[in-house]
Amino acid sequence: MRAYDLILKKRNGKILEKEEIDFFINGFVNNEIPDYQVSALLMAIYFNGLTKRETIDLTMAIVNSGDIIDLSEIQGITVDKHSTGGVGDKISLVVLPLVSSLGIPVAKISGRGLGHTGGTIDKLESIEGFKTQLSKEKFVANVNKYKMAITSQSADITPGDRKLYALRDVTATVDSIPLIASSIMSKKIASGAMRIVLDVKVGSGAFLKTIDEAKELARLMVDIGNGLNRKTFAVITDMNQPLGYEVGNANEIKEAVKVLSGQGAVDETTVALTIASYMAILGGAFDNFDIAYRNLQDLILSGTALNKFKELIVIQGGRPDFIDDFNLLPQSKYNISVKSDEEGYVNSINAEKVGLAAMMLGAGRKTKNDLIDHSAGITMIKKVGDRGEKNEELCILHTNFLNSSEAAHIIKKSYVIEKEFNKKMQYIYDIIQ
Ligand code: URA
Repeated sequence: MRAYDLILKKRNGKILEKEEIDFFINGFVNNEIPDYQVSALLMAIYFNGLTKRETIDLTMAIVNSGDIIDLSEIQGITVDKHSTGGVGDKISLVVLPLVSSLGIPVAKISGRGLGHTGGTIDKLESIEGFKTQLSKEKFVANVNKYKMAITSQSADITPGDRKLYALRDVTATVDSIPLIASSIMSKKIASGAMRIVLDVKVGSGAFLKTIDEAKELARLMVDIGNGLNRKTFAVITDMNQPLGYEVGNANEIKEAVKVLSGQGAVDETTVALTIASYMAILGGAFDNFDIAYRNLQDLILSGTALNKFKELIVIQGGRPDFIDDFNLLPQSKYNISVKSDEEGYVNSINAEKVGLAAMMLGAGRKTKNDLIDHSAGITMIKKVGDRGEKNEELCILHTNFLNSSEAAHIIKKSYVIEKEFNKKMQYIYDIIQ
């Protein structure tokens, strides 16, 4: 078999066999097929797509490129969730303690942020002492004992995805539906998830910008999960502005505490309760969405969910005192107001631009090896639907960099302010199961 022939086959719109996909992924992981040939194949896939069967074969080739975690030692039905990536997306921090409060084991394997999107592991590392790398034994033991654990993906799981993702990032092939589906589902399957809720983000801050594309991705991932015996639901949620009011690592930890205390933003709380409800249904606690939603709301109002979050922090070695005093979280040296040049209603905020601005302030990485500043980020003061006067504050930039004028410029450009408010707010678009 030759890589050249497989590139030609896909370039001409033909369908690849399982053995050919395995050959390509194995060759890439073992450094036998060079980046330029893999890049060419990725571009051919970007334009010609993959069938469902090819996508499943690609998913399994990536799963088999590394270790596969067997979570069968965990008692009960474990649930996991995964977001396709967004800005201000701190849903995992909320749903983990919330669903675990029901006695459902939540075994969460999370990633770090890349580009304009954030990652749960980076956010948790804002908490002093919090350990984000648990051994497999510790992870399983904690889930059995406390019904919850979170860890970062080890280097041995899906090395094929890590290499492919890095190439996609620099060859403009990230936003391909079969490539996103195989990337996400391979990680969930290799990391042992038995029941999965996918938060498929759509809009300016997501990789996919239209609802039709998001639905297609959701359908494909649900079919892959169910086809591999992992019961999977997908919830299509809005990412046309940052979720909640905080973007950045320590900022988002603070906001997760607010949601768990019943003082969260409406969009954030609605999405978190919806995802958590489907996790609770998959975990067998309820069979009715409305009942699940109400019960989870009660767990927030009674303080149970926040206590569970506190417990998680202590179990994983962190200091929970910041929950009562946010000043104990990392603080930036500069907090700069960005003010509006005009009066009117905020009709949209380009979330990708907000994510990029946060990254420039130090909250994210431009390349995988960059260090991040946990105190950096953005507090949104005005969100879509709000009215503001000229010179009123739109948001506050938190940074340790002396010069943040470029980020301020980008964020100003992300706001569309008009005389009338002409948008219909919607947080959840569809459920695919
Ligand atoms: N998240 C992933 O893990 N992979 C993708 O391809 C896109 C988002």
